[in-house]
Amino acid sequence: MSDFKTRIVVLISGSGTNLQALIDTIERGDIDAKICAVVSNVDNVAGIERAANHGIPAFVVNHKSFPNRESFDERMIEIIDSQGPDLVVLAGFMRILTPVFTDHYAGRILNIHPSLLPKYQGLNTHQRAIDAGDNEHGATIHFVTADLDGGPIIIQSKVSIEENETAASLAKKVQKQEHLIYPLVVKWFSDGRLQLIDDCCQLDGEALQKNGIQFDQSIHKLNY
Ligand code: GAR
Repeated sequence: MSDFKTRIVVLISGSGTNLQALIDTIERGDIDAKICAVVSNVDNVAGIERAANHGIPAFVVNHKSFPNRESFDERMIEIIDSQGPDLVVLAGFMRILTPVFTDHYAGRILNIHPSLLPKYQGLNTHQRAIDAGDNEHGATIHFVTADLDGGPIIIQSKVSIEENETAASLAKKVQKQEHLIYPLVVKWFSDGRLQLIDDCCQLDGEALQKNGIQFDQSIHKLNY
């Protein structure tokens, strides 16, 4: 593509606060990238409005209009590829993707999940962590593979679970971390520092541990 910036397509299903964190970081000039389009599988969600507010084209591909996952994914690929992306970012995109889709974007598709993976794949992660009596929880960013919520981990950020914690209060704390780590990881990718090689994440040519980098504020300060 002609403008040298990393071209990103963001997939959403809902409120889009992670999308907003990315938009804000790019607009501040902290990531050399452009969000070419937002694609949502749900109509009328706040994330679409966020895109519109920043002049980003948004497409809705309602999964309910397709007879199966494969045909939905094929249409998604058509729309995404029409934008010529270098990177696909799943930001609260709540559909299971088929291997045809995940293989097509291998090494250039990221997901954020609200748990310390491999714990609590799937839904209701905050309540499940509380119910299990865990004293910590968090968010994980990983490369997407055909293995649902199971791709190679890039980074995790932890929060503590306090007494009387509710799923809502925990979700708030986790999202605050998400809004720090997702822009950071997209920046690493855009700067060519982050790669997936032979199913292993590498940052600056060094293989990451199985549970990725453990985020703290000093990492944030070092990178901005
Ligand atoms: C985020 O907390 C993200 O971790 C989660 O959905 C939320 C979307 O919020 N993703 C998943 O659960 C994926 N399995 P947002 O729309 O405000 O960014």
